[in-house]
Amino acid sequence: MAGRLEGKVAVVTGAAAGIGAATATAFVREGAQVVVVDRDGEGAERVAAQLGPRTVAVRADVSHEQDVVAMLDAAERAFGRLDILHSNAAAAHPADLDVASTPDAAWDLAYRVTLLGAVFGARHAVPRLVAAGGGVILHTASAQAFIGDHARVAYGAAKAGVVALTRSLATTHGRAGIRCNAICPGLVVSDAARALFPPPLLDAVVRHQALDQVCEPDDVAALAVFLCSAESRCITGQAIVIDGGLSAVGSASADLAELIGYATWVPPATTDR
Ligand SMILES: NC(=O)c1ccc[n+]([C@@H]2O[C@H](COP(=O)([O-])OP(=O)(O)OC[C@H]3O[C@@H](n4cnc5c(N)ncnc54)[C@H](O)[C@@H]3O)[C@@H](O)[C@H]2O)c1
Repeated sequence: MAGRLEGKVAVVTGAAAGIGAATATAFVREGAQVVVVDRDGEGAERVAAQLGPRTVAVRADVSHEQDVVAMLDAAERAFGRLDILHSNAAAAHPADLDVASTPDAAWDLAYRVTLLGAVFGARHAVPRLVAAGGGVILHTASAQAFIGDHARVAYGAAKAGVVALTRSLATTHGRAGIRCNAICPGLVVSDAARALFPPPLLDAVVRHQALDQVCEPDDVAALAVFLCSAESRCITGQAIVIDGGLSAVGSASADLAELIGYATWVPPATTDR
């Protein structure tokens, strides 16, 4: 049986690790040819080598417009066309906390990588997708575009900008056959996230989710495949949250359930997630 992305050519940024690596892997499994892009060139080479001959690796920093042009050129040079751009790369600055203390450097990083990186991708992908008769732009935004937190003010603001960009692109280019959606993860336990969220913190997040399970990069990759395949041909301009129901549950719900005595509703803390 043909894969769901058979014959498609995709570029995935931030693909040396985490969600991007899982998405590149799922795209290849579904029949796509994939350009594995990361600012970590060795990491991109490693992932591409694991995935085999239907991939090429490109070292690119998405905050540099000429790198973005080069990664899209690489797709056309290696595979003859472009059908899918998954703008997934982002990085959070360690000093990105509250608005009073967050330095300009953190705002600059959020703006340049998260928002401008997606803008550069769209700017240079749209003409190529139009030439190919249509295609898909997929963004990795964040649930933090919609819910408040005590930290990462710049990151959340930039991700909200990515959601707005998503809707704008879907509106402007839909009639040219281009769909654009944003995946908005809550906590996804990539290696990077696992290092930042040791078990007590992970349990605190899961305690406030509807589902008693953590989201893995492969869960996001499965959504990415769906949103880049013809199965989602009527879906565009959407910001789709994948967070185990964290943003659906009332914020006081877990505490109230404990206080009122719905103790079985709240899963016990575990350390082996
Ligand atoms: N993991 C989570 O809990 C979570 C939650 C919400 C949103 N997200 C988003 O998902 C995406 C992937 O996150 P992840 O958890 O897989 O992270 P990760 O750190 O595991 O992987 C990110 C990859 O992006 C690359 N990268 C960073 N800056 C880059 C740049 N300027 N140019 C090119 N590559 C760059 C890194 O080298 C790395 O390989 C990001 O957009 C992130 O904001 C993640």
